[in-house]
Amino acid sequence: MKYLSTPAGTTRIGLAYGPGIPEFVEAHPGLVDYIEIPFEQLRHSPLLRSLQESVPLVLHCASMSVAGFVPPADATIDAIALEAERMRTPWIGEHLAFVAADPLALPGVAPGSPTTLTYTVCPQLSEETVQQVVDNVALLQSRCTTPLILENPPQYFTVPGSTMTMVDFVNAVLSRCQVGLLLDLSHFLIAMLNTGADAHQEVTRLPLERVREIHISGLNTQSGIAWDDHATPAPAPVFELLELVLAHSRPLALTMEYNWSPNFPASILHAHITRVRHLLGTA
Ligand SMILES: [Fe+2]
Repeated sequence: MKYLSTPAGTTRIGLAYGPGIPEFVEAHPGLVDYIEIPFEQLRHSPLLRSLQESVPLVLHCASMSVAGFVPPADATIDAIALEAERMRTPWIGEHLAFVAADPLALPGVAPGSPTTLTYTVCPQLSEETVQQVVDNVALLQSRCTTPLILENPPQYFTVPGSTMTMVDFVNAVLSRCQVGLLLDLSHFLIAMLNTGADAHQEVTRLPLERVREIHISGLNTQSGIAWDDHATPAPAPVFELLELVLAHSRPLALTMEYNWSPNFPASILHAHITRVRHLLGTA
């Protein structure tokens, strides 16, 4: 089995698991340091664990509902902790978002199980949510020995009841939790575009010294709203943000999330890995 080491001062370059990604990694020995794979995918397809015989894996997760008010099942937390130990992942990257909500209240129907959203949703950005995240993280850290890093979510609209900006929310959470930051620069740009904020100004207000990992991916715009899109390459503004961040911090890992399309061009994967290595000075 191969395990990822993450020495300080070095940035490992990885790809998010998706169609064609293992084949690309195999075809380009030495180009990619790791594959980042979701817990949910491994739970559904345990045979994917065999990937680690040829390339180190890093665990991503969308099941902890860290910014939610409906906790995950105990069995789910146990399974995540076990997967992380088995993989020897340096950390678990989880979204600063929620995936479960209260049971739907339908007229004449007794409430059932919590509502599963199947997608990580940006929470209300408020002191109430910050406190809930602090409590949720404390519980998760008591059940799981692998370090947790939290990923800023894409924000598509101002969530009702919000009292703070995305940057203030991330700062508030990290000031009260012993976790690293998984800075998704595409999510960040999306949030800034959709809330009319200045991305270059705001990015430097983040706790950049806490960044352990960076994500980059594409985005697209529909009806005036910017959306997350892992089927397209990161555009120039994402690379501009990356340069700004790298001037202030040295993440341990950078993952390209180009994993939604089997037709994503291998030539762009190769070119972007090379571009990132140049920015990091490791080309
Ligand atoms: Fe991401």
